[in-house]
Amino acid sequence: MAGGVGTRFWPFSRQTYPKQFHDVLGIGRTMLQMTFDRLADICPVENVYIVTSQEYYDLTKQQLPELSDHQILLEPSRRNTAPCIGYACYKIATKDPEANIIVTPADHLILKEKEFTDRIKVALEATAESDILVTLGITPTRPDTGYGYIQFDGLTDKEVKRVKTFTEKPHLELAQAFLESGDYVWNAGIFVWNARSIRKAFETHLPEMDEAFRDMATHFYSDDEATQLLRAYPQCRSVSIDNGVMEKAQNVHVVLSDIGWSDLGTWKSLYEVSEKDANDNVIDGHIVTHNTTGSIIKTPKERLVVVEGLSDYIVAEFDNVLLICPKDKEQKVKEFVADASKRG
Ligand code: GDD
Ligand code: MG
Repeated sequence: MAGGVGTRFWPFSRQTYPKQFHDVLGIGRTMLQMTFDRLADICPVENVYIVTSQEYYDLTKQQLPELSDHQILLEPSRRNTAPCIGYACYKIATKDPEANIIVTPADHLILKEKEFTDRIKVALEATAESDILVTLGITPTRPDTGYGYIQFDGLTDKEVKRVKTFTEKPHLELAQAFLESGDYVWNAGIFVWNARSIRKAFETHLPEMDEAFRDMATHFYSDDEATQLLRAYPQCRSVSIDNGVMEKAQNVHVVLSDIGWSDLGTWKSLYEVSEKDANDNVIDGHIVTHNTTGSIIKTPKERLVVVEGLSDYIVAEFDNVLLICPKDKEQKVKEFVADASKRG
């Protein structure tokens, strides 16, 4: 899934150039490329599909030249993750109705690659045998309201555990209660299922999307896919797979995963995972700091930036936008994006 805009990471991530296409960590590979690399040992290249918007075709093609055109699925409009997953999974199902499918966001950091591969293999073995929807679960560290919370059957020592409840993006008090109870894990947003199970789930919980993509499936691989998509997408409401399927389905299971996972969704999360200098600053660019602590400063390399006296700030410049904002005010970034779009 590589079609999101990632607005909380503005101005670095923006509609014309969202974060999955950036080398966020400054290591020479973009988030999309890192996701592709991570799956190389699990999934043959010819079985990888990227679902993104038409406007990101060039970026995707440039960053993943290994892929043929038919592996880049272009959505005519953004409708959140349920239609994105429906489109890809129904398409894969026409090729192999029994395919085991891994669905992953293209903008996550996973530090323990071996453990990730191991957890995915555990999930794949389970979905090959049973009609279940599996997600990876992460031990929560804070009452973050941006994640799904999973309550699972803790009595079993099986690696694939039955999920009792799935709550997508709870409000703060609820997230706090979930965290304190110790019974919950975060949904990593990385799913494993068999093509037949996810089709069944769409049939039950999102029948209008099942209809839209079932109809398309009879015509997949014809030249006319773009036209068919223009018919199918307006039939799909904008809903995430988490709200549309995972909260409702009774056959959700979780594989607890200690994989060094982080959703690099915000400046703070990037700050937390990045290497810091002696003054706890994260510096990426041609930057000289004086009396500056706890800040993240990311600016274009061709410009010298000199900073004096900042504590706990975000300074981020990309393209024609410069953001200077205290780290603890970063939830206002969505407002800044709205302001900026009003000003053109
Ligand atoms: N193709 C396509 N089309 N991709 C999309 C679309 C779309 O309309 N919308 C989002 N995506 C991509 C994003 O680029 C991202 O890689 C992934 O799908 C997930 O979407 P997000 O918008 O980032 O979801 P989220 O972070 O708010 O929540 C999800 O992930 C959390 C963990 O990071 C949920 O699954 C939560 O339950 C989970 O905790
Ligand atoms: Mg996300």
